[in-house]
Amino acid sequence: AMVDKGGYKHFMAKEIAEQPTVLQGALAHYIDTDTMQVQLPDPGLDFGKVERLSLVACGTAYLACMVAKYWFEQHARLPVEVDVASEFRYREPPVPKGTVALFVSQSGETADTLAALRYMDGRADSILSVVNVPESSIARESDLPLPTLAGAEIGVASTKAFTCQLTTLAMLVLKAAQDRGEMSAEDVAEKLKLLRALPGMINQALNIESQTQALAGELAEARDILFLGRGQMYPLAHEGALKLKEISYIHAEAYASGELKHGPIALVDPNVPVIVMAPRDALFEKTVSNMQEVMARGGKVLLIADEKGAQEAGEGTWRTLIMPEVDDFLAPILYAIPAQLLAYHTAVAKGTDVDQPRNLAKSVTVE
Ligand code: G6P
Repeated sequence: AMVDKGGYKHFMAKEIAEQPTVLQGALAHYIDTDTMQVQLPDPGLDFGKVERLSLVACGTAYLACMVAKYWFEQHARLPVEVDVASEFRYREPPVPKGTVALFVSQSGETADTLAALRYMDGRADSILSVVNVPESSIARESDLPLPTLAGAEIGVASTKAFTCQLTTLAMLVLKAAQDRGEMSAEDVAEKLKLLRALPGMINQALNIESQTQALAGELAEARDILFLGRGQMYPLAHEGALKLKEISYIHAEAYASGELKHGPIALVDPNVPVIVMAPRDALFEKTVSNMQEVMARGGKVLLIADEKGAQEAGEGTWRTLIMPEVDDFLAPILYAIPAQLLAYHTAVAKGTDVDQPRNLAKSVTVE
């Protein structure tokens, strides 16, 4: 079917706005609402028998894997390795018994990811994939392909495919946690209820759009921008930096907040905006103290936090974007929204080709 911009200025804007709707579809696909349990398509998988997960992907899909590593390890107590596909295949890693491989890809055709999948075929116990295009090579060559159901994504910079990947992975994590006896059926049902409330929260989070637009003019002036996050927000800092680089051509880097003092803090000066992603999770106070180190050195901080978090963080930030309060588990999905909106509006302010940024392709099917 032909996909049009539906009245939006860019496909990316439309795809950002579509997220509450497509997420609802993905949730409906995987949640059995009678039992409030996760249902996987056949042949399914018993995570009780899995000893180790190997997650492999490229680009934004790789960042979804990074989030999933935190989730699988914390909630399912399952050891996880994450690799970018181009590194994984040439490293020829040994694959211990009990390893399950999981590939994440919007297109399902990325050459390096597909080659990594073929490397794992016969080495891993089973091959899972989280893929947006169900008839793609990666989906076809997997034992258990899990569709993300984001619908066609046209903008080169991935948005709704990313949040649908995360949502699908989150449900897989809950299933794994239950299979491994780390979460009870009630705990899982509780988290699934929170997940079902996520589309509404994303709708609410989309309300920061006018504020991001107002900020974008100033961000567009920057030559370098830093993104900071800790724990499961560290991958989101990477996603914020990647999106911004891709479409606004501003040099952006992500650092784990705790690593700041080991080098990157030398970059801090009043001309380098530092974007801090800080939901009120277990590491919030540590993130805030890292943020204060930046401010003490004249850094210009854009804090993304909920209302209470912004209050606790105190004064001295350059700007604040207020997010809805969210359960720790789901924060990485919700905080994708400000990452996307900041990149989008900064790119629009710079007048770049948002949907077709220079030198990039939607799907990289050659090496
Ligand atoms: C390209 C796109 C990125 C995408 C990456 C992986 O670089 O520009 O947006 O994240 O490929 O693509 P995949 O289809 O495997 O998710």
